[in-house]
Amino acid sequence: MPQVPEYIKTLVPYPPGKPIEELEREYGVKNPIKLASNENALGPSPKAVEAVRAILPILHRYPDGSGYYLKQKLSEKLGVTPQHLVLGNGSNDLIDFLIRTYVRPGVQVISSEPSFLVYRKMVQVAGGENVVVPLRDMRHDLDAITHAVTSKTAIIFMDNPNNPTATVINRADFDSFLKRLPEDVLVVLDGAYEEFVRDTECPLGYEYALKDSRVVGLRTFSKAYGLAGLRVGYGVMDPEVASMLDRVRQPFNVNAAALAAAEAALDDQEHLEKTLQLTWDGLDFLSQELEKLGCATMPGHTNFMLVDTGRDAREVYEAMLRKGVIVRAMASYGFPHHIRITIGLPEENERFLNAFSEVMK
Ligand SMILES: Cc1ncc(COP(=O)(O)O)c(C=O)c1O
Repeated sequence: MPQVPEYIKTLVPYPPGKPIEELEREYGVKNPIKLASNENALGPSPKAVEAVRAILPILHRYPDGSGYYLKQKLSEKLGVTPQHLVLGNGSNDLIDFLIRTYVRPGVQVISSEPSFLVYRKMVQVAGGENVVVPLRDMRHDLDAITHAVTSKTAIIFMDNPNNPTATVINRADFDSFLKRLPEDVLVVLDGAYEEFVRDTECPLGYEYALKDSRVVGLRTFSKAYGLAGLRVGYGVMDPEVASMLDRVRQPFNVNAAALAAAEAALDDQEHLEKTLQLTWDGLDFLSQELEKLGCATMPGHTNFMLVDTGRDAREVYEAMLRKGVIVRAMASYGFPHHIRITIGLPEENERFLNAFSEVMK
């Protein structure tokens, strides 16, 4: 067999949330609930489901490799041109394109710790150098990131809101950060949870991408739009950056079902609003109730919440599994005492709370 480079051997596979079926099989739990992967509690828009059904008879055809209609819809909605858009097989695909386009050995990429693990993983795959800046007070430390920039820096990844802390940066700080940043560095604002943000001072990646060619805004249909299983996301960026990524991407990287579902989901404003309201109500309810149990939570700008259990969170995670509730233990993100929970339906939130208060007794 050919040799595998050291930077590939030392990669750690991404730890996904435990699948429901596995819990049923391994623990014999009936009707478990999964609040671990920040999926949409309401499910997909019925219009998206219908759109997927409608394309089933033409599955023998390749999808539209340019994503023409989805780009048209997004352009109208966001006020950008189709040339500003690149579509991906999930927004993970965009992260991959950006890194494969701009990163090679000797090039540095800055990200925060903890933040979304995929940035660092893909940089390692490309043989690039990860420069990791710790969060300060659970937030991206823009000053420290500025100081970490060198002549070798190509990209700065910031998930905004941050996963796992659910915190956001604000416009004034981001504006002054951009002023101090060199011209040849890209700043990726990963807005996977942007739709859930209630803070009007939060900078939106796609808005900034229109006025500053260094900013790339990423978004996904996996969260607020409930299409995680189909894998579709997009990036808004300067057309020159988009044309580079377009050279790198595979010709049919977004499948036909995903394109159809995403278009229909964009038209279903009612489903989106229902999702946002349900999430905000769940966040408010759970943070109040968890506070009563003496557990600190982070202010939620997402559809998930970090909870300080004050003890070894892996034990809490295991005990919750036995009660049929899948959450996420956050040791791999550097928070040994925290779990992360996704906001569920009201009855799922109640079930989580009941199980959690028993476990914490
Ligand atoms: C911050 C962040 N960015 C990107 C993603 C990837 O989402 P997608 O399903 O669009 O690949 C996630 C998914 O959990 C995320 O938390």
